[in-house]
Amino acid sequence: MVRTEEDVRYINRLVNLENKSVLEIGCGTGRITFPLAMKAREIVAIDVNERVIEEASRRNRYENVRFSVGNIESVRLGSKFDVILSTWMGYMYLNDMPKAIQNISNHLEDDGVFLLLCGYYDDEYTKIVRMLIGGKAKRTSFYNEVETILSAFFTFERHILKGELVFSSVREVTERLRLELKNEYGLTMDNHHEQQLRGYLRSKDKLAIGNDSLAYRCRKHASR
Ligand SMILES: C[S@@+](CC[C@H](N)C(=O)[O-])C[C@H]1O[C@@H](n2cnc3c(N)ncnc32)[C@H](O)[C@@H]1O
Repeated sequence: MVRTEEDVRYINRLVNLENKSVLEIGCGTGRITFPLAMKAREIVAIDVNERVIEEASRRNRYENVRFSVGNIESVRLGSKFDVILSTWMGYMYLNDMPKAIQNISNHLEDDGVFLLLCGYYDDEYTKIVRMLIGGKAKRTSFYNEVETILSAFFTFERHILKGELVFSSVREVTERLRLELKNEYGLTMDNHHEQQLRGYLRSKDKLAIGNDSLAYRCRKHASR
């Protein structure tokens, strides 16, 4: 269910990596880093979690890719990049989002592109979550906050990237949403939730749920 190919295709459509220096932030174990390594001139990939960097470095077979531990809120890499990329980094968990975005801007060449990929708050999957949790909006205000902070440093376009989660059974869908409710909202999925979900799935002709992503393609303000 991890849609690496799709993410990579979207990234390549939105930004030209050919012969570019790339900084990837929140790289994890290199899910996105490795498929981009053949295109970019060099990739510096950082993550705040030492364990994932160890794993990524162990798997690394590319001479132009370097992994290192770093927190985007504070890291100073001493160089600027043509492209900065972050996929599914979890901006809502940052201690200081403005500081992180400012630091991203400081590491970007004046004519560079910052591409941020994250979940989309208005797709079918999120609507189902909303139905289950009783309508409490999923952080729509969070996206307003992101956009306000981004616009202090960048001019950006939003792209909605179509995606779909395909399941093999109702049980699999239920387990996926059980985890979502627990991890994101601290809620336990009960019988009522399960019935609601089954009712919803019965109204569909296939076991697939639209799960779009949102990409912000950002360029520095001309004056900066
Ligand atoms: C959901 S994972 C995504 C990993 C990878 N980008 C992908 O798409 O597969 C989020 C990653 O962001 C990292 N991360 C979170 N906050 C960070 C920060 N402040 N600086 C650097 N990395 C961070 C986490 O440690 C985690 O590995």
